[in-house]
Amino acid sequence: MTGEALRSEQLRKVYTTRGSPPVEALAGVSMEVRRGERVALLGRNGAGKTTFLRIASTLLRPTSGTIEVFGHDVARTPERVRPYIAVVPQEGKPFFHLTPREQVYTYLLARGLSRETAKSRTEEALGRMGLADFADRLAITLSGGQRQRTMVATVIATEAPLLFLDEPTIGMDPFARRAVWDTFRTLTTRGSTILLTTHYLDEAEALSHRLYIIEGGRVLQSGTAEQLKRSVGGTLKVALAGAAGMTESFESFGSVIDDGEHLSVIVSPERLSELMELALRAKVSVTVGPVTLEEAFLRVVGRSINED
Ligand SMILES: Nc1ncnc2c1ncn2[C@@H]1O[C@H](COP(=O)(O)OP(=O)(O)OP(=O)(O)O)[C@@H](O)[C@H]1O
Ligand SMILES: [Mg+2]
Repeated sequence: MTGEALRSEQLRKVYTTRGSPPVEALAGVSMEVRRGERVALLGRNGAGKTTFLRIASTLLRPTSGTIEVFGHDVARTPERVRPYIAVVPQEGKPFFHLTPREQVYTYLLARGLSRETAKSRTEEALGRMGLADFADRLAITLSGGQRQRTMVATVIATEAPLLFLDEPTIGMDPFARRAVWDTFRTLTTRGSTILLTTHYLDEAEALSHRLYIIEGGRVLQSGTAEQLKRSVGGTLKVALAGAAGMTESFESFGSVIDDGEHLSVIVSPERLSELMELALRAKVSVTVGPVTLEEAFLRVVGRSINED
């Protein structure tokens, strides 16, 4: 076996629907995920993230290109790939007529685990996802966040070698999200590999070893959160309230982002005091903070992750 959990080469997907023009959802995506890594796909709505995960998890055939999971070609030998993977699909829902405890347990039995292992893994996963108090209620009676926790519990309980999670923490409160992050970290130290998608930049940064920024079916950039942030060209972000339209005055300090209301300047620490003096003279109030993935995303994609 190779040291890679997943490798795609020039993966393309064109959706064809009768009566509609074809949609190129993936335009040649090459990536690799090493064993034990947590990798996030970051991209705006329609970027192609779900399409990639659906192909990788054998649910959709690529138009061209190749993708392998643990050395097995996903399109040609999907039956060899399936035992290695477990999937939380985008907008997946638990079975309404099962309780979380029943859903997790029966899924593990269906995957071939012994009753004993299934039972202990079920209890551990329910506990990790904070579902102990809801574990015996029909899923139809659970809140949206509790249902999503049930989906994640079902998949983490498999401890499959490769987990695909499409927006796993959508709709969860901040505490549940952190519990998911902790669990993912534990799973990868136990040898699993995780490929997830997210729109939350803090989640991508806190959780993943590496990120792929995807837009229009292409990988625009990849690397660690640190590398992506460094590529912005400074380590501090200075927000200037009420300075919209004053781009020219601040351009010499670093790249300037004008969102129509505020101006933000990316600077290195050495230039900070000079910039502050200028801002004070212009009677502009200043807030200084670290550069985040948001600025990196904006630089790479040209638009913010939430912008239409
Ligand atoms: N079954 C389909 N038929 C036609 N076009 C599709 C189909 N599924 C997705 N698309 C299109 O393919 C592109 C990529 O969609 P995809 O669902 O992969 O994006 P995504 O990055 O997961 O977006 P989101 O963040 O909204 O979940 C979009 O333009 C979408 O409209
Ligand atoms: Mg999606």
